[in-house]
Amino acid sequence: MSYLTVQNAIKRFGNFAALNDVSIVVEKGEFFTLLGPSGCGKTTLLRSIAGFTDLTSGTITLDNTNLRAVPPHRRDIGMVFQDYAIFPHLSVFDNVAFGLKPRKVPAAEIKTRVMQALAAVRLESMAERLPAAMSGGQQQRIGLARAMVINPRLLLMDEPLSNLDAKLRIELREEIRDIQKQVDIATIYVTHDQEEALAISDRICVMSAGRIEQIGTPQEIYGDPQTRFVAGFVGTLNALEAGSATEGLLTRLGLSSGAGLTWAVRPENIGLAGTGMTGEQLAGTVKKFTYLGREAHLEVETPVGSLVVHVANPSRSEILAPGAATTVVVPRESLMAFDAEGQRTEAEA
Ligand SMILES: Nc1ncnc2c1ncn2[C@@H]1O[C@H](COP(=O)(O)OP(=O)(O)OP(=O)(O)O)[C@@H](O)[C@H]1O
Ligand SMILES: [Mg+2]
Repeated sequence: MSYLTVQNAIKRFGNFAALNDVSIVVEKGEFFTLLGPSGCGKTTLLRSIAGFTDLTSGTITLDNTNLRAVPPHRRDIGMVFQDYAIFPHLSVFDNVAFGLKPRKVPAAEIKTRVMQALAAVRLESMAERLPAAMSGGQQQRIGLARAMVINPRLLLMDEPLSNLDAKLRIELREEIRDIQKQVDIATIYVTHDQEEALAISDRICVMSAGRIEQIGTPQEIYGDPQTRFVAGFVGTLNALEAGSATEGLLTRLGLSSGAGLTWAVRPENIGLAGTGMTGEQLAGTVKKFTYLGREAHLEVETPVGSLVVHVANPSRSEILAPGAATTVVVPRESLMAFDAEGQRTEAEA
């Protein structure tokens, strides 16, 4: 039995559909991420589940109850926002206890539960501190403790890390994932950062313009994108230019160059001749070479267009100056085909 179900959700603001027939299922204990560009409807979906917004039409059920009939404060849903929403004049303890105030919990139990929540986010030694003197990462951990202290049936997080610097973001995302697995609360997490989504999620739902493009594990989303949008949004994508050179390449690889199809390839799935990759060869000229230690990124001008190539563990001899001649290797299985609607398609000759 599915835990949280959103079915055929539509949310209109005037004539504009912020959610346009969205359906998701989230299982108990699952870490489920909404990923997509600004304005695609992530926050609107989260707010509809929390009850701050009501859908124009559609159903939301949690553990078999119709959530749309339950007022927001009775839904038992914990929320963490982008801005920490911390009260500066209240101690860390009181900030977390705040979530329990309207619930008439006895004082002794408040103490136990707040300290448990603070322990989960590793802030128990700071219970009496005022948040003003604490770092952004610590303030966001207070926000997380406050959301968890009510023992929510669902945890919703809307870009909780986007106000933090890059290093802290990576630290805290791993912490959030560990805490979520430990408390085992179904979580819907919103981000527009694809790497964050891949790192943290059990499953990812990629959205675009109020619709769902694909739902899958990080491996499925990255390795087997079902639409052109997903392939381009998650990871880097090389589009092959339409024309005789691309048709020639496809024919040599035994692939059909069917009408209306477009072709693309990931930088790490193609390589340079002499690095052990096998496939069709394309003569090219290096436009850019960026050495990154464990990887080198090249931009190579070829007959099928400019291609970004990622080479793992580049040796010193592989450093190529702009203008140098090189050969790009394109394995048959590296190519992805999309139809005119942008849907992934198999294209055998
Ligand atoms: N109250 C509102 N009235 C009118 N339009 C709204 C309202 N709330 C959201 N929208 C519109 O709905 C669309 C989706 O907004 P939403 O906030 O859900 O996007 P988002 O995916 O969370 O984007 P971001 O990554 O920028 O936070 C946007 O075009 C937004 O302008
Ligand atoms: Mg948003």
